[in-house]
Amino acid sequence: MNNVQQYKTHCRPKLTELLQALKLDKTYSRAEGNYLQTDSGEKILDLVGGFGCTILGHNHPEVVAEAISALAQGVAINAQGSIRKESAQLAQRLSELTGSQRGYCVNFSNSGAESIEAAIKHAYKVQFDKVRREYERLTRVLNDLYYKIEREQLEVEFPGDNKDLIDFRDDLDEYNLAQFELFQNNPVMIAFKGAFHGKTSSALKVTFNKSYREAFEGLSAIQPAYVDIHRPEQIAEIVDEQISTFYYPVLIGTRVELRPVRMTRVIAMILEVILGEGGIRPVPDDTLSYLVELKSKQHLPLIIDEIQTGCGRTGSIFGYHDTPLAEIEPEYIALSKALGGGISKIGATLIHRNIYDDDFGILHTSTFAEDDLSARVASKTLGILTRDDNAMLKRVRDKSAYLLDRLHTLQERYPTLIKNVRGRGLMLGVELTSLPDRSSPFFRASGKQGVLSLLVASYLLEYHNTRILAPLTTMLKGNPGKSRLSILRIQPPATISREEIDRFVDGLHEVLEIIENNNEYCLIAHLLGEPVTDDERKNSRHVPVRWPVVEEKGHIDSRVGFIVHPTTLDKLVEYYFPSFHHYEWQAEHLENWWNLISRFLEPVHVKSTYIKSNDFTIENNLVFVPYMPDYITQQKNHSLTQEVQGAGQNTGRRHHRAGTGG
Ligand code: F0G
Repeated sequence: MNNVQQYKTHCRPKLTELLQALKLDKTYSRAEGNYLQTDSGEKILDLVGGFGCTILGHNHPEVVAEAISALAQGVAINAQGSIRKESAQLAQRLSELTGSQRGYCVNFSNSGAESIEAAIKHAYKVQFDKVRREYERLTRVLNDLYYKIEREQLEVEFPGDNKDLIDFRDDLDEYNLAQFELFQNNPVMIAFKGAFHGKTSSALKVTFNKSYREAFEGLSAIQPAYVDIHRPEQIAEIVDEQISTFYYPVLIGTRVELRPVRMTRVIAMILEVILGEGGIRPVPDDTLSYLVELKSKQHLPLIIDEIQTGCGRTGSIFGYHDTPLAEIEPEYIALSKALGGGISKIGATLIHRNIYDDDFGILHTSTFAEDDLSARVASKTLGILTRDDNAMLKRVRDKSAYLLDRLHTLQERYPTLIKNVRGRGLMLGVELTSLPDRSSPFFRASGKQGVLSLLVASYLLEYHNTRILAPLTTMLKGNPGKSRLSILRIQPPATISREEIDRFVDGLHEVLEIIENNNEYCLIAHLLGEPVTDDERKNSRHVPVRWPVVEEKGHIDSRVGFIVHPTTLDKLVEYYFPSFHHYEWQAEHLENWWNLISRFLEPVHVKSTYIKSNDFTIENNLVFVPYMPDYITQQKNHSLTQEVQGAGQNTGRRHHRAGTGG
């Protein structure tokens, strides 16, 4: 078995199939600076950077030297339950870098998700303790009054339907306990739509993508409340609404009255200042200013997830320092990824001293956390990033300016293909449009389903030895009918040169030209194992489109839909690959590839025709399920019905379900 087969059999079967279908199934055996090297010695310019880990490049020599020297000195990696001096120094340094007067206590862990998990646990405990104290105090108030009335044999009137002292006490006690349990079992966290905070049970609850979450919802009690990054006023509404209301009794003359105590069930708001997996979307300054203002009026602990934005990626140690949030000292800051200098697995949760719970350092521990080796590597990394008056961070900003400039020029050249170029520092994203109506149906469908960005990544890897990826989210099929972002994620190291940036942008230019020319063949020939010359790719021929998007008619009285699938390869070529008519290729190659990739594609709306009779108009829709007959007959266990049902929502038309009358 070769490594690909081993990986497919023993590690990630479905992911391997996707990587194979896209020819992204390389194995890398070395990594140095800006390059990954394949088994066969090819050097690949890496703009994925471990999804943000390698801000210093791969295996930065000083970071590696630090690790080697630590190991050579026999560093004490396993000394749990002692004073961990390397972690102590690192924690102090991190706390200082925030600029906070009172500073932070730092909880170290081994990954990004774990550092979020620590913040969530701490935030929960802080609010839990508050609510419990209040609940217990109110229970005492109730009992005190109960005993007073009983002892003094007072004749009193109870509120509501209660006639009797014991009933009154039991009812109120039961009600308050239910409110306490409501908080305990339903703590609320506010997060942004599009957020990604990791995949452990609670971090996953505040990760927006439903496909990641839905099979695991019940594992954590956190109730997420997602808000739009453009509608911050929703945050205040949630804080107002998510309340446990307790009541306590007061004796006024001969009447017992109830007084409310409102306690929020919101334990924290969590946010990235630039949504990474969510499509490299910076949160607007207005929204962050709103949060600053809200915090001055309302208690709302903030967890700032700097796992991707932090440690130099956006040109600062903390990305929030370049936003309106710089005015406040957030309760929690989570770091990981680049903190490990590209070689160590380390996470850090900075918890503000104002709220730090002293018990937490005993309640929340992990075997590998705080090991001296990772701490030394992380301290070295921070040193490299900040030395010489933050020279490395300035380098990030310089490279960013150059890269952004070149990408904006490309956007001007292809305004119908590039919707947006955005991000900060070396955390940039190029969002492709949903493609104009006169584009190739295959490009339109794969664009809408997020696969186009992966095809672009595949092309750049094949012909330009350059590695970019889309957000992992785009690799997941799900939420039928919902457009997935087609976004190229560009996260090079600070050490990238202008020439290397040029090489990447020139490659991107070439592939955009192919897309603009509706030339499916040039984009995917390498995936079929078909030849295509450099000249054919670089001067790709323009192919007119036979199936442009059909205008939606104004008024219709009824709708019907037909679900079709390609019965022969010719039909597939006619609809999806008309450019293939201009080249020579083998049917078997296309069919094999199509059977690989089509399982990652969703059904699409192909065509609407309108039948008019007297004054009655029927819209007749054709929905294309991309599977070939062989694939369908092989799928014994696969739920094709579900796919076909999804097809109805995939027509590209709103409020429309194929297969049903309107
Ligand atoms: N928070 C953010 C903002 C992240 O980008 C990630 C991971 C995590 C938390 C979780 O960290 O993987 O170490 O547990 N992001 C990767 C990505 C997977 O694709 O951006 P982890």
